[in-house]
Amino acid sequence: MTRELYIGLMSGTSMDSIDAVLVEFDDDACTIMQTHSDPWPDELLRRLRQCIEQADRVDIAEIGRLHHELGRAFADAALGLLGAAHVPPPAVTAIGSHGQTVLHAPDGRAPCSIQLGDPGTIAVETAITVVADFRNADIALGGQGAPLVPAFHRWAFGHEEEDRAIVNIGGIANVTILHADGRTTGYDTGPGNTLLNGWIARQQGRSFDAAGAWAATGRVNGALLGAMAADPYFSRPPPKSTGLELFNATWLDRHIASLPAAAPPEDVQATLSELTALQIANALCALPGLQQLAVCGGGAANHDLMSRLHLMLPHCRILTTTDWGIDPAWVEAVAFAWLARQRIHAQPSNLPSVTGAAASVSLGGVYLPPVRHR
Ligand SMILES: Nc1ncnc2c1ncn2[C@@H]1O[C@H](COP(=O)(O)OP(=O)(O)OP(=O)(O)O)[C@@H](O)[C@H]1O
Ligand SMILES: [Mg+2]
Repeated sequence: MTRELYIGLMSGTSMDSIDAVLVEFDDDACTIMQTHSDPWPDELLRRLRQCIEQADRVDIAEIGRLHHELGRAFADAALGLLGAAHVPPPAVTAIGSHGQTVLHAPDGRAPCSIQLGDPGTIAVETAITVVADFRNADIALGGQGAPLVPAFHRWAFGHEEEDRAIVNIGGIANVTILHADGRTTGYDTGPGNTLLNGWIARQQGRSFDAAGAWAATGRVNGALLGAMAADPYFSRPPPKSTGLELFNATWLDRHIASLPAAAPPEDVQATLSELTALQIANALCALPGLQQLAVCGGGAANHDLMSRLHLMLPHCRILTTTDWGIDPAWVEAVAFAWLARQRIHAQPSNLPSVTGAAASVSLGGVYLPPVRHR
């Protein structure tokens, strides 16, 4: 393969921003050329949250409108990125657009995962080929459709002499284990930042707990931790993936209501931080010889969460992916640029050992920019 430019567009379950990254790939390495972040407009964010939180009442026409409007917002982020980089659209081979997940339901008789942000609109607005809908082919093959980033982690961070682990702490946290023998395993461990964000928003009107400073003032409530950690998701064997359908305010309120005595709000925050760290540590305890764990995602900036991880994994060096060459804030967006590249070159991009799919395939639908006829 020759050198090529791709764009990765990502907005995760935290819905904190649209992340856009311009990446140059050659055969076995990638370089971030430019990054760009757009906040979600307040009104769009309100409607998105309503769509997710009141999924059983949402109007199909509203879903259509959101699909289009999010497509425009993703296209604007891509164009803002290219403007900042002074790179013209024809120089880019393709955009990998994850979309905004509004439903992730990979289990049951009619499994599906729905991301909004119309790729056709992005292709029209940018005049660049778009690869999108990365999850549903894996789901159709019996897989979870998630997590999808471990294949990229193997490509970018794999090392033949030692086991390595990566944890992405976004809205949901997911762990990848790159075994020295070449196997790759991993799964969603459970909540990352989503419950922490939701609780501080309700208690203090802030969108996140900067550096985990508020959580650090609280004490872990053993009863609450025990009740939350008993959720069957945590003991279910992989492959598994999850989302806001399970780990949401209703889930947290149910556990708080079951407590024998009220817990101060900062103790709830500390307990949520402990829960996130505990489930990540549990995913790694089967590897007592693990020496290096690299953290990425916004949770890497949460010092309270990081210090809990240090305490739970005393024999493991805890790094961020910066130490392995990629800024933790951009790993997910770079991964979707890589997934687009795999699709364009018809290379496999899911890992059955992670998702449980029956086959390894090239994921994503390809949307070519329209050819204009006079
Ligand atoms: N300085 C910080 N201190 C504490 N938490 C932070 C800080 N910066 C970011 N975060 C947390 O990280 C979150 C954003 O992380 P990220 O963008 O990786 O998640 P995401 O968009 O949900 O991605 P995904 O779920 O796909 O991994 C914020 O909502 C916030 O909770
Ligand atoms: Mg984000």
